[in-house]
Amino acid sequence: MNTSAEKILPWIPLDDPAENYHQASKLSRWVNDSSSAMYAYDLMTDPEAIASFGVPSSNYPSAEHYPLANSRWGSSISSVLRNRHSAQSFSNAPVSFQDFSTLLRESACLTESYGRGAPSAGGLYPIDIYLCITNVQGLPAGFYTLATHTATLHKLEVSTEPRQFLKESLLFNDLAAHSAFHLFFIASMPRLRIKYGQRSYRFALIETGHLAQAMIMCAQEAGLASCPVGGFIDQKIDDLFCLDGVEQSVLYSVAFGQPDFSRAADVRTSQNQK
Ligand SMILES: Cc1cc2nc3c(=O)[nH]c(=O)nc-3n(C[C@H](O)[C@H](O)[C@H](O)COP(=O)(O)O)c2cc1C
Repeated sequence: MNTSAEKILPWIPLDDPAENYHQASKLSRWVNDSSSAMYAYDLMTDPEAIASFGVPSSNYPSAEHYPLANSRWGSSISSVLRNRHSAQSFSNAPVSFQDFSTLLRESACLTESYGRGAPSAGGLYPIDIYLCITNVQGLPAGFYTLATHTATLHKLEVSTEPRQFLKESLLFNDLAAHSAFHLFFIASMPRLRIKYGQRSYRFALIETGHLAQAMIMCAQEAGLASCPVGGFIDQKIDDLFCLDGVEQSVLYSVAFGQPDFSRAADVRTSQNQK
């Protein structure tokens, strides 16, 4: 059935992709002012923001309300969750090999008896872990991949200087400057496709999130600082690790290091651990 617009202007396609681009390229104060401390709160309460971006799930004024009970803190997991935050910088101090190993073993390495700390769709483990090591005691600086079934690091033969690589590949220089190690999540899509077909990409993203969260919690438990980093130049990472960027490609990354006690947020970490 022709719409009236199609009858009047039959040569103009109604699904013109330029409409998407035009809409997506519009600027608004929300997009430009994301550094505002009120940003998240405004998004949930400001009528203009709600009209533009949708009603948050908590805004159903006429629905019955059931406030949650107060938290009962006490377990180590709850204190890790409460104290977690994303570091904005790191100190120059190294991370011990013991802390580094524990973090990777508990979150990502497979054991025969109990699997691993982060779940994996179908137990296919399609997310590979590559590391840029800059300041871990006992480990030469360089690039590594982690064999999760044997809990062993393999040093890659790459001549690129690791710290310089981080500075050139990340959009956030403070995070690149003093981290002790930076971890990249690499999806190997064929490993998922054999079972999940076109659902694979979705599962790859979800699993990466599980792994990153497990690692961030392990870091918090060990008193280390961390920051998830989605701001990186994909091509540089893929090229360094010789990935084709399609079948195998970087999805996400996390920077780890010792807390920078000169920054307010990191001082909070140390106080909470006392
Ligand atoms: C998917 C994702 C990507 C992120 N990428 C970056 C990043 O590139 N640079 C950065 O400084 N922080 C990054 N962050 C951290 C967020 O800025 C941070 O989580 C947010 O400000 C809330 O602070 P909190 O983690 O301390 O609660 C990222 C977080 C997520 C979940």
